[in-house]
Amino acid sequence: MSLNAAFDSPDSKRRYVRQLFSTIADRYDLITALLSYGQDARWKRTLVALANVRPDERALDLACGTGDIAFAVAARGARTVGLDITLRMLQLADAKQAAARGAARRVRFLGGDMTSLPFPPGAFDLVTTGYGLRNVPDLTGAISEIARVLKPGGRLLSLDFNRPEPAAVRAVYLWYLTVVGAALGWVLHRDPDTYRYIPASIRRYPGAHGVAERLRALGFSHVRVVPVLFGLMSLHLAERSR
Ligand SMILES: C[S@@+](CC[C@H](N)C(=O)[O-])C[C@H]1O[C@@H](n2cnc3c(N)ncnc32)[C@H](O)[C@@H]1O
Repeated sequence: MSLNAAFDSPDSKRRYVRQLFSTIADRYDLITALLSYGQDARWKRTLVALANVRPDERALDLACGTGDIAFAVAARGARTVGLDITLRMLQLADAKQAAARGAARRVRFLGGDMTSLPFPPGAFDLVTTGYGLRNVPDLTGAISEIARVLKPGGRLLSLDFNRPEPAAVRAVYLWYLTVVGAALGWVLHRDPDTYRYIPASIRRYPGAHGVAERLRALGFSHVRVVPVLFGLMSLHLAERSR
């Protein structure tokens, strides 16, 4: 499927994204460190610190990938589930867990789609997601599902790229990501579209303030946007309305 066709419908985006992450899964941690100039780990530490995790809380990390955020939340004592749509990502997360010695709490990794979660209402105190919301086939559906599985007063924390509002900043940012993404895709996979998906998905994303508006409309209060990297990235913090 071509990159443009990926955005034709929710179903085509779901299929494209799953295929993409299956392809890059084994190099995902390396690529993420490279593309973020080593900053990704720091942003995730900030997210987990802001999550204010309490021991024995029930936590869900969506689009968990190879498990970074889920492991950090579990290390703070939460009973944590990591969910992802890509089997290979889950296998890598499981392998990391198996290799870790003396981990505090073990994470339960599960296959699933964050627009249709296999949990009852109010099952979690905390939902986290790193680069999850921008990748879903249906943003409204995913936010509604997060609201459903959170307890009233439960917290959502999300880290993602932003879609900068000033047109000039956005143009330079997307151009940069397209050029770097194409080069990296060619070198690593002989396919320039592999990482051109990132700017393509940002173009179609409502951006940090658009996501904040949807969160408010879909059952969240105390919604905050924390700019990261001069606003090129952002963190969302929100509370499930009581
Ligand atoms: C960029 S990776 C982020 C991985 C991890 N959260 C991190 O921060 O490193 C995006 C992840 O979203 C997953 N994903 C995409 N669409 C999804 C969906 N609808 N439901 C669950 N996971 C999804 C992909 O399989 C991939 O592992």
